Amino acid sequence: MLDIIIYVFSTVILAMWLMLPAYIANPMAVVFGGGTPIDMGMKWADGQRILGDGKTIRGLILGTACGIVSGLLQIYAASAFDILIVPTITAVITLSFGALLGDLVKSFFKRRIGFVRGAELPLIDQLDFVAGAWILTYIFDPVWFTENFISSPSIILTVLVLTPILHRLTNIFGYSIKLKKEPW
Ligand code: CTP
Ligand code: MG
Repeated sequence: MLDIIIYVFSTVILAMWLMLPAYIANPMAVVFGGGTPIDMGMKWADGQRILGDGKTIRGLILGTACGIVSGLLQIYAASAFDILIVPTITAVITLSFGALLGDLVKSFFKRRIGFVRGAELPLIDQLDFVAGAWILTYIFDPVWFTENFISSPSIILTVLVLTPILHRLTNIFGYSIKLKKEPW
């Protein structure tokens, strides 16, 4: 029993370590977001906003920047404390930017199916940034991505189960401190 607990615990820690730049980028876009929307208020052919007011230039840039800083700190920590699993610079960038790109693509399709900004799309709202981070990392650093994700399905599964839980908890917290308009 104890060995199972240790295995699950270490897998969760490893999953969080591998996903850290994305896990930082996403909420920091909420913290630092606001201001000019990325779509500049423009509408798509369907008459709806392209992305909506929830996707801003500041959120995208500062969220990505925070993710990259956290990844660079990981690379530093890995060398200082002899941690063997370390992100590449490329992965740090693609995990951070990919997370927010995934969120943005999600909003584009949300607007197309007529969901107004802030409306909840269960699971998709929680996993959009994981998909973006993974796809972009797979494209730009397939070796690192294969080594750390594709070759360990338990990590993939852990991220898919853990992320919606962490996302929910973070958003309830963000909502309670009035940082976010909706608790999702
Ligand atoms: N945010 C931002 N820029 C981004 C992403 C998020 O400024 N690139 C900020 C916005 O203030 C946004 C909030 O974080 O309202 C919450 O993000 P999210 O839940 O992703 O957006 P929603 O407002 O719910 O919009 P959507 O329906 O498009 O998901
Ligand atoms: Mg939302």
